[in-house]
Amino acid sequence: MAGEWILMVTAQTPTNIAVIKYWGKRDESLILPVNDSISVTLDPEHLCTTTTVAVSPSFEQDRMWLNGKEISLSGGRFQSCLREIRARATDVENKEKGIKISKKDWEKLHVHISSFNNFPTAAGLASSAAGFACLVFSLAKLMNVKEDHSQLSAIARQGSGSACRSLYGGFVKWIMGKEENGSDSLAVQLADEKHWGELVIIIAVVSSRQKETSSTSGMRESVETSLLLQHRAKEVVPKRTVKMEEAIQNRDFASFAGLTCADSNQFHAVCLDTCPPIFYMNDTSHRIISCVEKWNRSEEAPQVAYTFDAGPNAVLIARNRKAASLLLQRLLYYFPPNADTDMNSYVLGDKSILKDAG
Ligand code: DP6
Repeated sequence: MAGEWILMVTAQTPTNIAVIKYWGKRDESLILPVNDSISVTLDPEHLCTTTTVAVSPSFEQDRMWLNGKEISLSGGRFQSCLREIRARATDVENKEKGIKISKKDWEKLHVHISSFNNFPTAAGLASSAAGFACLVFSLAKLMNVKEDHSQLSAIARQGSGSACRSLYGGFVKWIMGKEENGSDSLAVQLADEKHWGELVIIIAVVSSRQKETSSTSGMRESVETSLLLQHRAKEVVPKRTVKMEEAIQNRDFASFAGLTCADSNQFHAVCLDTCPPIFYMNDTSHRIISCVEKWNRSEEAPQVAYTFDAGPNAVLIARNRKAASLLLQRLLYYFPPNADTDMNSYVLGDKSILKDAG
C-alpha cells in the first residue's frame, strides 16, 4: 500500500420521510427507538446527499467537509459509524492504479469525507438521515464491506436513527428490535420504489431556517416528560404499523392518508405534551393542514396526505398526478410565493432508488 495514491468512492443517498414517526430512544448511545417506524424514500434528484470518501497513505487524520465547510469528526456518532465500518473492512485491490490494501491496513489509513446536501441542512427535511446513510454506504463501498443493506442500516442508525431507513428505496420499516446491543434494530424494505408509482410527493418549504430544538434533544425531553409518548409507543404505534403495512401492500390510499395524518398529528401532540412544550409547526403549517383536511372532506375519497417532521415544512403526498397538480394549484392560490406567508418554494419528488454513483 506504500506510495502516493488516492482511492475514491462517490455515492448518492436520498432522504426519507416517516409516515409512522420515530420519536424517542430507549438507548441514547446505540440509538435504539421506543417504537417501530415506517417511511417513504424520496427520489434522489430532489432531496439527497452526495458524499465522496477518499483514502490515501498521505492523509494524516480523518477529516470531513459538509457543504464545503470542514466539520469536526470528534462526535460520538461519526466515530461509531467509522469504527463499525472499519471493523468490517476487507481486502481491496485496484489493479489499474496498482493499489492493494489489506484488511489490516485499514486500521492505519485515514479517510477524507466530503458531503453535499442539495436541500437546507437541519430545517426539518431529514438532512441527517440522508447524510449518515450516505456516509455509511460510501465508506462501506470504499472499504469493501460485505454486509447487506439491512446490516449497514444498523450502522447508519448509530449516526442518526432515521438514517437507517435511507439505505433502501420505496417503503421502509425500521424494526425497533429487542436486543440490548441493538443487533436487531434495523431497516427492512416493505415495498420497492415501483410498488406504488402513482404517489407524488410535494414538499412545501415553509421555512428553511434551522430548527430551534433538534430532533435529538426534542425527543430526549419528550421521553423524560411526556406521558402521551409512553401511551403512543406502547398502545398506538404497534397497531398503527400493522395497518400501515396493509395499506401500503394494498395501495389503499384512504387508509394510508388517514394513518399518515393521524401519526403526524400525534407526534406533534407529543411535542406539545413535552415539558417545556416544543413547537415545530407554525401558523402556515396549521393553515396547510386545514386546507388539506377541508379538501379531502369535500371529495368522495382523500386526495392528499400531510406529514410534518421536526420543523414547519409540509410533506404532502398526493394520490396521483392529477391530485398533485390540483394540490399545487391550491398551494399557489392560498400561499402565493413571497406573499405574507414565509413559504416560497415547492419541491416535487417521487419515490426513489439508492444510487451508487461511484
Ligand atoms: C421527526 O433521526 O433526526 O424526523 O436519531 O437523534 O439523530 P436522531 O434523530 P433523527 O429524528 C427524526 C425524527 C423525525 C421522525 C422520523 O424521521 O421518523
